[in-house]
Amino acid sequence: MFDVNEILDSLNISIFDAIPSQTTDDDKRSLLAIQSAVREFCPHYVYLEIGSHLGGSILPHLTDDLCSKIYSIDKRPLVQPDERGVSYGYPENSTQRMLSILSQVSSTEKIITIDGETSSLDASVVTEQPNLCFIDGEHTDVATEQDFKFCLGLLSSGGGGDHLPRCLRHL
Ligand SMILES: C[S@@+](CC[C@H](N)C(=O)[O-])C[C@H]1O[C@@H](n2cnc3c(N)ncnc32)[C@H](O)[C@@H]1O
Repeated sequence: MFDVNEILDSLNISIFDAIPSQTTDDDKRSLLAIQSAVREFCPHYVYLEIGSHLGGSILPHLTDDLCSKIYSIDKRPLVQPDERGVSYGYPENSTQRMLSILSQVSSTEKIITIDGETSSLDASVVTEQPNLCFIDGEHTDVATEQDFKFCLGLLSSGGGGDHLPRCLRHL
C-alpha cells in the first residue's frame, strides 16, 4: 500500500493522511527524517513511543518492514493537563480503538501496547531495547522529564554508558 522507501526519501508526509496525527507538518517531516536515519543504521529497529492517541505517529513505522517491533505506552486518560495551561480532552480514548484504526491499514502484530504512565511502570515491561523513542504523552514538564528518564534508561541499557543504542554508536 505504501512505498516506505519512497516516502522516507522524499519526506512525503502524505502517509500521515491515512490516520490523523497530532503533529505539525514540520514535526511530520522531522519524524520521517529521523526514521530514515535510524532504519539505515539499525535494520530491524525497535520503535517506542509514549502517547499514541489514534496511532498516527505509529503508522510510518507500522508500514516499515525494517521496523521489527513497536511499543506504544499510553495512559489513555479522557482529559490531560498541559503546561500551556489548558486541559486537552481525549474522548473515547482507548488502545482498542487505536488498534482497530491501525488494523485497517496494516497488520498490528508487531505492536505491543502498554496502558499506563512511565512514573508507575517498571522498565522491564519493555523487553527489547528500543533504537528510537518518541515522547508525545502528557505535555507537562514533570511528565516529559519522567518520560525522558524512562527512555534514556532503556536506550542506555545496552551497556557502554554513552546513552546510545549499539547500532547508532557508529554515527
Ligand atoms: C498528543 S497525543 C499523542 C499524539 C500521537 N503521538 C499522534 O501523533 O497523533 C497525547 C497522548 O498521550 C496520552 N497520555 C496522556 N497522559 C499520558 C501519560 N501520563 N503517560 C502516557 N501517555 C499519556 C493520551 O492518551 C494521548 O493519546
